[in-house]
Amino acid sequence: MYCTRNVSDSVVWVGASDRRLALFENLFPISRGVAYNSYLILDEKTVLMDTVDSSVTRQFLENIYHTLNGRKLDYLVVNHMEPDHCANIEELMIRFPGLKIVGNAKTFSFINQFYDMDLEGRTVTVKEGDTLSLGAHTLHFFFAPMVHWPEVMVTYEESEQILFSADAFGSFGALNGNLFNDEVNFDRDWLSDARRYYCNIVGKYGPQVQAALKKLSALTIRTICPLHGPVWRSELNYLLDKYNLWSTYTPEDKGVVIFYASMYGDTENAANILAAGLAEGGVKEIAMYDVSSTHVSVLIAEAFRCSHLVFAAPTYNNGIYPAMLNFLHDMAALNMQNRTVGLLENGTWGPVCAKQMRQLLEGMKGMEILEPVVTVKSALKENGMEQLDALKDSLLASLSK
Ligand code: FEO
Repeated sequence: MYCTRNVSDSVVWVGASDRRLALFENLFPISRGVAYNSYLILDEKTVLMDTVDSSVTRQFLENIYHTLNGRKLDYLVVNHMEPDHCANIEELMIRFPGLKIVGNAKTFSFINQFYDMDLEGRTVTVKEGDTLSLGAHTLHFFFAPMVHWPEVMVTYEESEQILFSADAFGSFGALNGNLFNDEVNFDRDWLSDARRYYCNIVGKYGPQVQAALKKLSALTIRTICPLHGPVWRSELNYLLDKYNLWSTYTPEDKGVVIFYASMYGDTENAANILAAGLAEGGVKEIAMYDVSSTHVSVLIAEAFRCSHLVFAAPTYNNGIYPAMLNFLHDMAALNMQNRTVGLLENGTWGPVCAKQMRQLLEGMKGMEILEPVVTVKSALKENGMEQLDALKDSLLASLSK
């Protein structure tokens, strides 16, 4: 049975949610599921904006047939060629023999890499700024390369001022009936997943996101229809402001996150004492994460959120404890920058972890590493408190700037 929502009188959401998938991209835990959005525009011509993942094909097809109500499908716009959105192109080409696929040169090159479809006479290749008239509606195509794949484009519908934004402005999370941002408590229920989605999937490409935001700023946009998560029809500046912060690697919050690794509880103990000292010094809402038991995508999102980051870890195999090393490598891969950092190492003999963490962090742009770097030999003792207090004072002084 179909399950659709109207975005407007002539634009219908025909997507679906998957609450069974454990790992998005076989990588990111999605305890709240994920939505694959697709939108059908009904005019003199009918046009579908992207398809969906193969896991929700059945629901998607029911939605399309119901919405078309006996009409044929004229166009499919492929804004993004990642398989979570393009898994049903061939299915639609078979079911609608007159269907034409709208994409750019790279789109069609990727279709040929992924699939074996006969595209002869079935393609409309668009260039930057090209338009496609559907009747009362007109589509404008704008390229957004490397947000986060090279073929990505966004489509702006002029008469209703709708931006079909591809993955941009999307979020993890299934849609629980409520499609629109004003139907949910976004701050409470969606922001952390939207941040985790952006930072981990698009985070590396901040300059490209900035270029896309600049290009889109020339448009009057009333509604943003992303490929995942809620549709935005109010408070667009809230979302645009978040994207501006994330894509310039600017912290949302002035505060402290402590990321620690601890084999037997001693490094954790030092992290706890540091956190308590910061709290005594007036720091509120301190966040702490055990990097061994917290998925790295959560750690990345928190590093993007917060201004001051403390890394505390044991030395392991004459290097950095593996879970912390993985986190730091992910930060570097995602182009993380512009944070103030405190370091704490542990080592029963030959502690080298802090030196190596410093090297990795200094390889990222705009990282200020506070002094002193704290060294714990096995377990914190009274004679080690002076160094830990000094790091706490450095953090407090930096936070007060
Ligand atoms: Fe949702 Fe980049 O695919």
